[in-house]
Amino acid sequence: MSLKKARMAQSIFASSLLLWGAAAATLTFTVPSSPPSNSSKQLSAAPVGVSLEFFTFPAYMDNVTATTTCLENLKDLTGTWPPLRIGGTTQDRATYDPSLTQAVSYTVASATDAPTSLTYGPSFISLAASYGGEIILGLNRRLNNISNTISAAELAQSQATRLYAIELGNEPNFYTSSDPIAGGASWTAAADYASEVQWQDEVCGNLSVTDRISAGVFFGTSPMSIAGLTAVEGTANNYVKTYCSHNYPQSASTANLATLMGHSSIKSQISGFPSEITAAANLGKPHIFGETNSATQGGGGISPTFGAALWILDYVMQTVILGTQALYFHQGTIGNCQYCWWGRYDMGAPYYGAYFATMALAGADYIAPLDSQTTAYAAYAIYSSESPVKVLLYNSDYYTTGTRSSQTFVLSGLSASTVTAKRLTAPYATSRVDQGSNPTVAGQTFANGTCVIQGTQTVETATVSSAKATFTVSASEALLVYL
Ligand SMILES: *[C@@H]1O[C@H](CO)[C@@H](O)[C@H](O)[C@H]1NC(C)=O
Ligand SMILES: *[C@@H]1O[C@H](CO)[C@@H](O)[C@H](O)[C@H]1NC(C)=O
Ligand SMILES: *[C@@H]1O[C@H](CO)[C@@H](O)[C@H](O)[C@H]1NC(C)=O
Ligand SMILES: *[C@@H]1O[C@H](CO)[C@@H](O)[C@H](O)[C@H]1NC(C)=O
Ligand SMILES: *[C@@H]1O[C@H](CO)[C@@H](O)[C@H](O)[C@H]1NC(C)=O
Repeated sequence: MSLKKARMAQSIFASSLLLWGAAAATLTFTVPSSPPSNSSKQLSAAPVGVSLEFFTFPAYMDNVTATTTCLENLKDLTGTWPPLRIGGTTQDRATYDPSLTQAVSYTVASATDAPTSLTYGPSFISLAASYGGEIILGLNRRLNNISNTISAAELAQSQATRLYAIELGNEPNFYTSSDPIAGGASWTAAADYASEVQWQDEVCGNLSVTDRISAGVFFGTSPMSIAGLTAVEGTANNYVKTYCSHNYPQSASTANLATLMGHSSIKSQISGFPSEITAAANLGKPHIFGETNSATQGGGGISPTFGAALWILDYVMQTVILGTQALYFHQGTIGNCQYCWWGRYDMGAPYYGAYFATMALAGADYIAPLDSQTTAYAAYAIYSSESPVKVLLYNSDYYTTGTRSSQTFVLSGLSASTVTAKRLTAPYATSRVDQGSNPTVAGQTFANGTCVIQGTQTVETATVSSAKATFTVSASEALLVYL
């Protein structure tokens, strides 16, 4: 019944937490023996994916040592390479040049700038094709050169056996009347939808394919939405593989870490997306968050923190329960990217959340919320086939200083005599790797520069008594219980 930690020091620490008495009332959840009615639909093999900004994709693959290992660590958990999207703002600044020998060519004033114009060559496409998992390739629509986009799409179609989808433009809700695609007219939702459908027809017509386009690619849900686009797709829906949303909960000007990571505030933040997911499902297509991360405009200081890792964890669980198939967390300019999971030199704390989310969903078929999503405390039951195999507990109370409170969770309906657990923690919600405050996942860290997991794994054990076991989760911490 009591939580027996693998290490004596931790066990003393845990009991002293109880003595401090700061914890809220114990929360008890019964784990349903089969997926309850508010379970997710069938989960995909690897819901946690990565998006690499278009111009810097070759540098990530060829020149940042951690990239492959960080992706491979996730693959080692699920057996499937995380899905990869290559795209972003610079896909709509890029022109394909079949004679270019390098993967990509551009000039920038400073190494931390993104180029305003670039070209890319056939080796860009072959590098994308060499990735071990599914890829989404983001191509240009903004510059209105459809024959150029078709040339690149044809090469991708012929070379990339794991090509999942092609995007035709990035965040067209931000296009303006002065972009070439607008032809001088005002760029409205109706104009974008008509343009998307026409490009789907012509690109897929030339490629002689169906089910190939990641459509929409809207930032948020207004003024353009998947609900609006699907209403005018008509038979072009045959060319669509998936409908795609982008979501950044915060910007530098609104940055608030407690809100970002708060369990019930995450529910509110994503409340615009169920209707988008339903609109896609009504046309028989999956929905993805093809680009997402914590905060735009450099992240306002909240993005590199452990709290952002906890946000990733809970956001992934809540969005897959809504029915999204996968989330592609964006990695931007190398050396100028607050929310990035890794860089040339240091790891980013958010990677720990992505890793833990992938641990939770590895091998899972369904996940169900056990709580009402109206408090700071989350519990999820995770099913393989029809049986519960894991429970994820999350205490989203924001901890930065002073005495760390904790929440006691009692799980009932357990059939084993003991269960094990792995903990995701850090000194504070505000902890940053580059400031020496490393998170740990089951006691382990990821090495700066290489992303190799290091240290000794700590697995906790809890005794089950009368089908119940008790767990303590500190503020700004999560625990994955293996049933
Ligand atoms: C590779 O990294 C080095 C710094 O380690 C940098 O000077 C160089 O420009 C990078 N090359 C590419 C292609 O990004
Ligand atoms: C469009 O792309 C083609 C090559 O695919 C190129 O020859 C042409 O110059 C491009 N047009 C513009 C306006 O950039
Ligand atoms: C191929 O693309 C061109 C635009 O470059 C378009 O005019 C033509 O209709 C497309 N062909 C098919 C079969 O869709
Ligand atoms: C899901 O269903 C459980 C009962 O199985 C209920 O206790 C919980 O509040 C529900 N949560 C949500 C978010 O629907
Ligand atoms: C990573 O490097 C930072 C310094 O930039 C250091 O403070 C931190 O402890 C290192 N993390 C690990 C896991 O070695």
